[in-house]
Amino acid sequence: MSASSNVETHEPSAEQIKEGVREVYAARVSGDAGVQCGGATTPASRPERKDLIEVVGYSPNDLAAVPADAVTYSFGCGNPLGFSGVMAGDVVLDIGSGAGMDALLAARLVGPAGKVIGLDMTPEMIAKARQNTERAGVTNVEFRLGDAEQMPVPDASVDWIISNCVINLAPDKRKVFAEIVRVLKPGGHVAISDIVTGELPQAVRQGLAAWAACVGGAIKEDEYLDSMREVGLSDVQVIARQTYNAASVRGMIEEMASSASLPPELVEAACCPDVLSQIWSARITACKPDESA
Ligand SMILES: C[S@@+](CC[C@H](N)C(=O)[O-])C[C@H]1O[C@@H](n2cnc3c(N)ncnc32)[C@H](O)[C@@H]1O
Repeated sequence: MSASSNVETHEPSAEQIKEGVREVYAARVSGDAGVQCGGATTPASRPERKDLIEVVGYSPNDLAAVPADAVTYSFGCGNPLGFSGVMAGDVVLDIGSGAGMDALLAARLVGPAGKVIGLDMTPEMIAKARQNTERAGVTNVEFRLGDAEQMPVPDASVDWIISNCVINLAPDKRKVFAEIVRVLKPGGHVAISDIVTGELPQAVRQGLAAWAACVGGAIKEDEYLDSMREVGLSDVQVIARQTYNAASVRGMIEEMASSASLPPELVEAACCPDVLSQIWSARITACKPDESA
């Protein structure tokens, strides 16, 4: 089927987008299944998320190290800690921390001398992450409710920023990158996994559900990387890319469509091979230059 299907176009405002994303993720975290950005739908009760290991890149040890609930409600498209150099004593900020899986794994790496801050704009996610932190008995992680475009984090206070399938959801990605530069210490580092695209038909980007499914808001990889460089990040590199098959994209979009209305033609348009080859998860690293070095 052609990607330029007969779908009525409608451009939501930035605030409508954020509200839509919040609603979808609040529903997802209250629901009974996890759907990764770009991954497969999985039943909540599964003790070990094989898809998270195989598709996204966590190890069995990672999954065993955090409460099952954090794994169940994990919606990432990569494992940013897996390609970071986070060390004992570091301060780590996880942008869009969701149910807390990456933040809790980071808490183990930084140890008692370090600290992890999880930031998320969905109150239900923050509540879930705090619950999981209590279950894990971890004391060096805290979760803050806030917007990645305006982070409640002091200037030059963070050694590592990690983020897993979040920035594609932000209407103003450049603002998020500028905030990353502001809060990083000079010489601080970034490890992001996120959905980016090649050329996508406008029809596929349309609607809040497509946005919340990490497809509608995803921008072209070149634009994403340029935007990071423009705000002052250096050594911006894609270290790996992962594409998806029709079944996983269909799964995630249909799942999101249950939380926000999505025309069936759009699901079809998003799952055609020409479109699928234009959507991937990128593992991106960068750093903030240290002018004094
Ligand atoms: C696809 S989920 C990923 C969650 C988590 N990183 C993981 O890997 O499971 C996206 C998360 O980003 C949050 N989010 C989206 N836009 C945000 C923004 N502008 N500021 C803060 N959080 C945001 C959502 O509330 C949701 O929890």
